[in-house]
Amino acid sequence: MKIKIADLEFEQLITYEAIQSRVKQIARQLNKDYENKNPMLVGVLNGCFLFMADIVKQVTIPCEIAFTKLSSYQGGVSSTRRIRDDLDLTVNIEGRHIILIEDIVDTGNTLDYLVAKLKQRHPASIIVCAMLVKPDALEYELKELKHIAFEIENEFVVGYGLDYMEMGRNLKGVYKRII
Ligand code: IMP
Repeated sequence: MKIKIADLEFEQLITYEAIQSRVKQIARQLNKDYENKNPMLVGVLNGCFLFMADIVKQVTIPCEIAFTKLSSYQGGVSSTRRIRDDLDLTVNIEGRHIILIEDIVDTGNTLDYLVAKLKQRHPASIIVCAMLVKPDALEYELKELKHIAFEIENEFVVGYGLDYMEMGRNLKGVYKRII
């Protein structure tokens, strides 16, 4: 089924059920790896909000959550490379085990910037869980990228938190642009 958002058409790429199944696998691994470490899950807004909520619901070990907000697409269908730092973390992460929760890694520019910034605050460790990664678009070596729910082609997607012109975030699955 095709859907239209503003001037673009999209079709489903990943179902809600497939996402939930990967979320459970990733959370199971986090429960094992971070037992007795009281990790801090840091969501990167806005796109992370559904993925973060679903991961957190499956995490059964003691943990804390926090958010930061960055933007780089600013309305269009490709990265502007200009990162806007909209909201900094309000908590001290020194000595803490940080699990960054990202919606999508495209060029990797945003994540590279954020990881470098947070490392300056001396956390005990940092890893990244990303819902989507576009391996063909990746331009950075991101060794912190530990968990990837899905790898996709270099295509524009919306849904499950991701937007086109701030719309489509409420779609339950992930939809790709029909060209
Ligand atoms: P990067 O810095 O090039 O890795 O871009 C990362 C950011 O761009 C993500 O956090 C998203 O906000 C946005 N982004 C990248 N690809 C897409 C897409 O296909 N759809 C919607 N937003 C995207």
